[in-house]
Amino acid sequence: MKKWQLVPLLPLLLLTIFSLLSPSLSSRDNITIESPLAYPNTLNSPDNTFALGFFNTGNSRRWYLGIWYTNESQIVVWIANRKNPMPDPNGSLYISSDRSNLQLKTNTSDVLWHASSSSMDNPIAQLLDTGNFVLKDKNTSKIAWQSFDNPTDTLLPGMPFGWIAGQNLNLTSWTDSDNPAPSNYTVKLDHRTGWPEIIIWNGSKPIFRTGPLDGNNKFSGSPQFKNSTEWTFYYVSNQTAEYISYSTSSSKLRLVLNHNSTLQMNRFDDAETEQEWDVDWSAPDLTDPCDKYARCGQFGICYSTSSNNCTCLTGFEPTHLRDWEVDETTQGCKRKVELNCTSDDGFLNIHNVKLPDTTNTTVDRTIEQNECEQRCSKNCSCYAYSILNGSRGCTMWMGDFTDIRKLDQGGFTLYYRVAHSELHG
Ligand SMILES: *[C@@H]1O[C@H](CO)[C@@H](O)[C@H](O)[C@H]1NC(C)=O
Ligand SMILES: *[C@@H]1O[C@H](CO)[C@@H](O)[C@H](O)[C@H]1NC(C)=O
Ligand SMILES: *[C@@H]1O[C@H](CO)[C@@H](O)[C@H](O)[C@H]1NC(C)=O
Ligand SMILES: *[C@@H]1O[C@H](CO)[C@@H](O)[C@H](O)[C@H]1NC(C)=O
Ligand SMILES: *[C@@H]1O[C@H](CO)[C@@H](O)[C@H](O)[C@H]1NC(C)=O
Ligand SMILES: *[C@@H]1O[C@H](CO)[C@@H](O)[C@H](O)[C@H]1NC(C)=O
Ligand SMILES: *[C@@H]1O[C@H](CO)[C@@H](O)[C@H](O)[C@H]1NC(C)=O
Ligand SMILES: *[C@@H]1O[C@H](CO)[C@@H](O)[C@H](O)[C@H]1NC(C)=O
Ligand SMILES: *[C@@H]1O[C@H](CO)[C@@H](O)[C@H](O)[C@H]1NC(C)=O
Ligand SMILES: *[C@@H]1O[C@H](CO)[C@@H](O)[C@H](O)[C@H]1NC(C)=O
Ligand SMILES: *[C@@H]1O[C@H](CO)[C@@H](O)[C@H](O)[C@H]1NC(C)=O
Ligand SMILES: *[C@@H]1O[C@H](CO)[C@@H](O)[C@H](O)[C@H]1NC(C)=O
Repeated sequence: MKKWQLVPLLPLLLLTIFSLLSPSLSSRDNITIESPLAYPNTLNSPDNTFALGFFNTGNSRRWYLGIWYTNESQIVVWIANRKNPMPDPNGSLYISSDRSNLQLKTNTSDVLWHASSSSMDNPIAQLLDTGNFVLKDKNTSKIAWQSFDNPTDTLLPGMPFGWIAGQNLNLTSWTDSDNPAPSNYTVKLDHRTGWPEIIIWNGSKPIFRTGPLDGNNKFSGSPQFKNSTEWTFYYVSNQTAEYISYSTSSSKLRLVLNHNSTLQMNRFDDAETEQEWDVDWSAPDLTDPCDKYARCGQFGICYSTSSNNCTCLTGFEPTHLRDWEVDETTQGCKRKVELNCTSDDGFLNIHNVKLPDTTNTTVDRTIEQNECEQRCSKNCSCYAYSILNGSRGCTMWMGDFTDIRKLDQGGFTLYYRVAHSELHG
């Protein structure tokens, strides 16, 4: 079988992770009230791309219910009980007798994980070829719960990433390569400006931002993340949902937040001679100095093409010149001349940038540039503004701002406030 031929190519950790996955005894794709799933059985999606069952990660005292690729290196793509491992494999996945819950029980009847929904007449939980595990009513086919709306560290094609009905669908990485417990690294879709951007966090600290989507449908700071021959990504925004997702016609793809905090698009190269996962896109790009969050500090701007990557915006100078000269730039820049807080202050602009961190922004989607500038200049703490949504979509930065980079093309124009004396150089 192919999966065992693959084994010599894999890193050691995969050997340990999957040493105890066992082939299914009988192939089925669903459970019902009458037919729970117990180790060592698995569910297999109809085309056998995915399996759902019990596995451990080399530590025989931590067992998980999860979904993995049957073939492609048996990579795990979803886990039910990542916070609550089972002490041994003797658990079962049930549909509860009140016909509303999926439950993972140890054989001492502790419930280690559950997925709730409203009660159904004829519940069935089925593993689909997409890798989605759905709990639905067999009579109406109405989906009551699905693994695609409860992601762990992996986004498969078709999975939403963002907001649906007030719920945030984000990815959280494993703690390390053999512990799937959630780490402090999370990746989320941020929509404070009304244009979505992807942000990787370490707890409450940002590590990396793609910048908001620009008018060309590219993330302004990560234009490499775009439609390709292998995949197409799209953005859905309406009153109850705001998310991005991607689709593919031919390849096996997975977008994963790794335990080292890198977000990677992995593609399985199934050419006979390759048979391995390649990295198609990865963020942050370690070879790009400007991908590092706030590389040049407040009011600093990062150029990945020049030998000193950090410059201060016009009208600003390094906060600590000595540090700046030895490339310690995280303290950023300060104003050469303080603002007057009157109509004496004016605005300079810089084109083609990834906009600064939008934590301190306020947005008014109804007003145009002139009004946006007027409104900003009336508020003494408004330090910059930009127009995102074509001609409307006024985004104003209140106070210091950081993490700006210059782009070759695309991105946005940032208008920033300086004292009158700085307006003409
Ligand atoms: C559930 O699995 C059983 C056993 O393989 C199969 O006979 C049945 O058709 C499946 N049900 C559905 C709705 O696919
Ligand atoms: C898994 O591998 C086997 C053996 O190479 C192959 O016959 C089968 O089509 C593969 N299944 C999938 C879903 O790719
Ligand atoms: C759990 O399963 C293992 C392997 O199937 C078995 O050896 C062991 O006795 C079981 N332990 C308990 C507590 O049921
Ligand atoms: C737990 O499962 C094991 C193996 O399936 C079985 O031998 C044992 O009796 C079970 N224990 C309980 C309390 O159900
Ligand atoms: C991320 O997702 C998890 C579960 O999917 C959820 O509990 C958590 O609140 C989300 N985080 C944020 C910041 O929304
Ligand atoms: C997450 O961060 C907290 C506080 O900074 C720290 O105590 C904890 O060890 C971290 N957890 C992991 C899994 O790294
Ligand atoms: C990618 O291509 C799809 C289909 O052609 C299109 O709907 C979508 O808008 C494109 N996405 C981006 C970000 O360009
Ligand atoms: C918004 O989009 C979601 C996901 O595509 C869809 O389920 C929902 O019905 C849409 N809501 C509205 C109000 O159009
Ligand atoms: C992070 O982990 C991924 C997957 O193991 C690996 O491909 C990548 O090179 C790692 N990145 C860093 C910076 O270590
Ligand atoms: C600036 O970035 C380039 C790569 O884009 C790099 O070669 C150079 O060393 C960087 N300069 C500094 C001071 O880090
Ligand atoms: C501040 O404004 C006052 C009066 O509006 C003006 O006289 C003064 O020159 C301004 N100072 C600077 C630094 O622009
Ligand atoms: C937000 O504003 C506060 C107060 O000015 C500042 O300390 C903080 O650094 C700002 N955050 C960002 C991300 O710019």
